[in-house]
Amino acid sequence: MTSSPRPAAPIDPAPLRRGALGTADTRVPPGPQGPPLLGVGVQFQYDPLRRMTAWLREHGDVVHYRVGGTPWYLLGHPDDIASVLVGEHARYMKDELTHELARFVGRGLLTSEGSFWRRQRRIAAPSFQPRHLAGFAATMAERTQRMIATWPDASARDVHEDMMRLTLDIVLQTLFGAATIPDLDAVGDIVSLLMADFQQNFLTWRRLLPAWFNRDAIARIDDARDRLDVILYDIIRQRRAGADPENDGDLLGRLLAARDEDGSRMTDRQLRDEVATLFLAGHETTALALSYALHLLAHHPEVAERLHAEVDAVLDGGTAGLEHVARLPFTDAVVRETLRLYPPAWVIGREALEDCTIAGWRIPRGAQVLMPQWSVHRDPRWFDDPERFAPERWLDGLAERLPRFAYFPFGGGPRVCVGNHFANLEAVLALATLAQRFRVSPVGPIELSLLPSVTLRPKDGVVLRTERRSA
Ligand code: HEM
Repeated sequence: MTSSPRPAAPIDPAPLRRGALGTADTRVPPGPQGPPLLGVGVQFQYDPLRRMTAWLREHGDVVHYRVGGTPWYLLGHPDDIASVLVGEHARYMKDELTHELARFVGRGLLTSEGSFWRRQRRIAAPSFQPRHLAGFAATMAERTQRMIATWPDASARDVHEDMMRLTLDIVLQTLFGAATIPDLDAVGDIVSLLMADFQQNFLTWRRLLPAWFNRDAIARIDDARDRLDVILYDIIRQRRAGADPENDGDLLGRLLAARDEDGSRMTDRQLRDEVATLFLAGHETTALALSYALHLLAHHPEVAERLHAEVDAVLDGGTAGLEHVARLPFTDAVVRETLRLYPPAWVIGREALEDCTIAGWRIPRGAQVLMPQWSVHRDPRWFDDPERFAPERWLDGLAERLPRFAYFPFGGGPRVCVGNHFANLEAVLALATLAQRFRVSPVGPIELSLLPSVTLRPKDGVVLRTERRSA
């Protein structure tokens, strides 16, 4: 008689902690030492992914360093990340770099704090619940089909460019509906320009310079933001003036219809900030997930074969829809594994609002705390053979065995990504639709040159060969 294999036990994160626990108020955790003034900030900037991972392995699960006068703490243990994002979340706010984003998204969900954020979240969140997303599934698959219909039978192309356009198209369709779609390229160009200037001026040492030195970039950012405002306010005005402004067929209609408990609604300014936030948070992140998935599939033909087999069997030549999603577990696993190895949000930051304690260490008020998905997702304590792209690892209940926050591509706690179900649905449907019609193969090496900006971007795009599959 054969006995069925026993399911693997959940991983207990506590005994696997690296480095010392804090013991006294006056001591600081170990960490890298850098030159005075800028501290290790310059080192960090030049290779943050490798640096963060190396510091966590070398110094332990709580790493301390200074940039200028500010203390920074890097966390590598899921329990400590849970404490910041969930248990003690009220004692932290978003970090200083996230607040810089307010320059062009205003006080939207991503950047606002306190009671203002709570109210906005309460109004917006219901629209992102899985049951409300059902209506968007058809748009997601249809826009993907429309895109690949323009692809030649065989070509070498930057699929990252394609995915950026696709997810912008989907976010615009689902936000505004077909009637008021603005010029896709104009919006895409503005968002790209904003992100590029933001990267150069606020995520590098340049942000330590007085504002005067960055005045040209700031003027460009302000100008691009003004051009985006013209488009957004125009859409909002047209919609309010239309016959059925609160039509719940798209997100703008739902945001217009949403009421807080006291019956109040969003002002035009709040709507503008939320819509700009959804553009920013919702389009590039999902495009990155899809681009990296295609890159990994191109370099792992055996995984691609399994994906094609699943998609062919489940879709049976038809259009991918909501009803197929639960029957596409391997497609879902490819998305999960991609988000593990290439998390578009590669680090989450917070600032301590008051003196806090993490793993026994005192974290002073004003300290910046970083929780890097990039490093935690590649930690051998939680993932066997962590550098290997192995979607099948997700098929036997790994998600339930993992410590909470060993895998957190969408963050967690009250500020968890409001679009996580949306992103997952979009990624699975777009990937299934792509894999149904095309196969991808490599053009360059498997190592991608990465640019850890607001999101984790490919420096030189993701160029692959795409080839139409025979019927
Ligand atoms: C693969 C795709 C995506 C990834 C990896 C991702 C990741 C994240 C993460 C990590 C956060 C939390 C940041 C923090 O705690 O500081 C976040 C927040 C957020 N995301 Fe996403 N996101 C994705 C797609 C989307 C989509 C499609 C939308 C909207 C359509 C969206 C809208 C937002 C918003 C509005 C917030 C702020 C929520 C709040 O603070 O209340 N995201 N996202």
